[in-house]
Amino acid sequence: MTSPRTSIHGEWSSRMAFVLAATGSAVGLGNIWRFPYITGDNGGGAFVIVYLICILAIGLPIMTAEILLGRRGRQSPINSMRSLAKEEGCHKAWQGLGWMGVVGGFMILSFYSVVAGWTLAYVFRTGSGTFVNATADGVSYIFDQFVSDPERLLAWHTIFMAMSIVVVSRGVSHGLEKAVRYLMPTLFVLLIGMVFYAMSTSGFSLALDYLFTPDFSKLTTSSILTAMGQAFFSLSLGMGAIMIYGSYLPRDVSIPRTAVIVAGMDTLVALLAGLAIFPIVFAYNLEPAQSAGLVFKVLPIAFGEMPGGTLFGTTFFLLLVFAAWTSAISLLEPVVAWLVENHGMTRVMASAWSGLTAWLLGVASLLSLNIWSAYTLFGRNIFGLLEDLTTNIMLPLGGVLIAVFVGWKMRRKSSKHEMDIEGDHIVYNLWIFLIRYVSPLAVAIVLLKVSGLLDWITQLLK
Ligand code: PFF
Repeated sequence: MTSPRTSIHGEWSSRMAFVLAATGSAVGLGNIWRFPYITGDNGGGAFVIVYLICILAIGLPIMTAEILLGRRGRQSPINSMRSLAKEEGCHKAWQGLGWMGVVGGFMILSFYSVVAGWTLAYVFRTGSGTFVNATADGVSYIFDQFVSDPERLLAWHTIFMAMSIVVVSRGVSHGLEKAVRYLMPTLFVLLIGMVFYAMSTSGFSLALDYLFTPDFSKLTTSSILTAMGQAFFSLSLGMGAIMIYGSYLPRDVSIPRTAVIVAGMDTLVALLAGLAIFPIVFAYNLEPAQSAGLVFKVLPIAFGEMPGGTLFGTTFFLLLVFAAWTSAISLLEPVVAWLVENHGMTRVMASAWSGLTAWLLGVASLLSLNIWSAYTLFGRNIFGLLEDLTTNIMLPLGGVLIAVFVGWKMRRKSSKHEMDIEGDHIVYNLWIFLIRYVSPLAVAIVLLKVSGLLDWITQLLK
């Protein structure tokens, strides 16, 4: 019933392997570093609600569509889109969707690896007892000093990128699958341990209130865009990562069910991260809006105080490194698969070249945090620009194009076949409705509003 193609890169050994890998891609710095910090910057509860709505109404349907495209195309996103466009009688420009993913992947990986480098550094910092009984001000000072030192950042960024290249160069089942099998469950357990600790602090009820009692007056158009962008970023959507993982998915696996599991786990981890971090923020009278430094300025305070905190904290940051690692490899995989398919490169060479390119861009990102910090555009340094442009614009745009292709261009027969559905089916109908109307409209409205075009159009219509 499904596409007769097979992938030249191999296949996951089971549905479980795919779920773990896709969850490994989804769960990463986006959940534990980015979600809490942007929630803090955007005022809490109302932002969280918009985020959850985006996951359900936009993210989940697009994730289903992206896995479907991958499994039907069975190649790198660029080649999958080319074959599928041809098969469905569409213009070959649809291939551009794959290209946008490759470019977006480089851009994300560049700053992602820098932050993963911070995490690596914090494994050693915490392990050496730096934070034992440190004050909140002291912890904050240590982070600011660290980020202003380009040599240190460069060293950690380089190590992390090398780690990612090594795993991707080993291929689907040897590298990717092994890396995620044990690490994801352990991170989950540790995060729950952190939440239990946070429950014992005086800030827990304030944090619950902050995260789950919405104050819609704090919501701005730009925070809606940020929530939507975060849904794409956190679920790894819109740039081919999930598509390429879908291309290794065995035929007999139910796509919607798998998507629900991955999106559910991802959201759970983000909420747990919020529940672990904000109680400490409030217990120490800190400001929730601390931008990108939040996790690194807050968690070490708790590690410095709790019994066994050095061991616990070191393990925590170590697992965060693994979570970032399993996400970073999914950012490299689409371009590596393409280089292998189209340029006859070996996996090792393809991984090395693409990793090196992302590394170079990452150097620009990390320098923009210190010696190049004066160079800004729209009030953002290179790091911020890459983060905003990819997360808030490129991923939602890529996601919507996926939704439009599957919802409007692909024949129903094809999508039903790939989903193994015959006749009328309520889940299928709801899904088609969401990707045809809800996702494209929501993304278009938010992007138009933020760019100022919506106001301009409404003025014109008056
Ligand atoms: N989802 C990852 C995270 O939350 O950390 C980041 C990411 C990975 C984004 C892969 C996009 C992507 F294609």
